[in-house]
Amino acid sequence: MIGRLNHVGVATPSIEDSIRMYRDTLGVTDIGDKFKMEEQGVWVCFVNVANSQIELIEPIDESSPITRFLRANPRGGQHHICFEVEDLLQARDAMVAKGARVLGEPRIGAHGTPIIFVHPKDMGGVLIELMQTPTAAH
Ligand code: CO
Repeated sequence: MIGRLNHVGVATPSIEDSIRMYRDTLGVTDIGDKFKMEEQGVWVCFVNVANSQIELIEPIDESSPITRFLRANPRGGQHHICFEVEDLLQARDAMVAKGARVLGEPRIGAHGTPIIFVHPKDMGGVLIELMQTPTAAH
């Protein structure tokens, strides 16, 4: 059973342009610093709203998995949604047991806790990220 919606992942060709849009057009005041996630091939920036976060993701270079997404969606767009789970390995095993395709091995996500992705073809067309619920330290 999934827990709360943690964030919505949004791919963008320019985190700076997206920050301007969220700040100046939508009036968001709580926006984190952009940081690099080398292994995932992306820059990440969290836009904090009252009940959740938008995770802006921009490719580091052409080899990034996000590059292909941006070729199909040049202006950027919604890329994934992320739900928290109490125990990531248990959730992974449950997904596999129910026939959903889990993409790759668990890895450490942008919040510093383990994550997996579940194939959109098994999730009603939506790429689903499951992340272990962060503790107070995260
Ligand atoms: Co995410």
